[in-house]
Amino acid sequence: MIEREQISVKAQAFFEDLWKQGDPWEFKTSDFERDKYARQFAILQGRRYARALEIGCGNGCFTRLLAGIADRTVALDISPTAIEQARTAAGGVGAVDFRAANIMDYDPHAESPWDLVVMSETVCYLGWLYSLFDVAWLASELFRGTCAGGRLLMANTCGGVEDYLLRPSIIRTYRDLFLNIGYHIEVEEIFHGTKNGVDIEVLISLFAKAPVKEAPCVAGIA
Ligand SMILES: C[S@@+](CC[C@H](N)C(=O)[O-])C[C@H]1O[C@@H](n2cnc3c(N)ncnc32)[C@H](O)[C@@H]1O
Repeated sequence: MIEREQISVKAQAFFEDLWKQGDPWEFKTSDFERDKYARQFAILQGRRYARALEIGCGNGCFTRLLAGIADRTVALDISPTAIEQARTAAGGVGAVDFRAANIMDYDPHAESPWDLVVMSETVCYLGWLYSLFDVAWLASELFRGTCAGGRLLMANTCGGVEDYLLRPSIIRTYRDLFLNIGYHIEVEEIFHGTKNGVDIEVLISLFAKAPVKEAPCVAGIA
């Protein structure tokens, strides 16, 4: 088995074990998570999205909000148990295609164009297990698969939690990667909240891909 396949097997086993325990991040019950979803949703509102891709949707708490502003959503998670929970909670409401899949084995360009890509609290796990090249390649394929004028919403905890995956400098490196790939920042803010008595900061970035420019008029040509 080649190294990358081994990583995929390890990743699936790790997240499947977590989700088999129930709701490991307390997404369904935590006020902090509810308020964070509300803030992310508020940043996206004011526009409808024809096709949305959510990467690492977990048990689908944010997906259910997304379904209200997207005509069709593909929501992926590496854990089949998380996807089962998400499907059950969605109860068939909204046009969401929940899929158990590893984003690193998925070709985001194949079903493109996407009007919106959402990656909330997920890139830190990709960077943990896969090489920087693999994460950069994914970012570049997501950019290629985003329609002109389309958006990418990324949210990552970056303060208050003692976790080496969430060091602010590392989280900002992911954010800078998406800028280097070609997106620009439309909205960016730090969300503050308290979870289990700990003050937490979350960097929320709404990236956009430039709309196609009209061909400039050439002076002297009618
Ligand atoms: C911290 S949870 C965030 C869940 C969701 N985005 C939310 O904010 O409610 C991270 C999720 O990413 C998923 N995940 C991790 N690595 C993944 C991969 N390579 N492909 C797809 N999903 C992945 C995990 O199973 C987990 O559900």
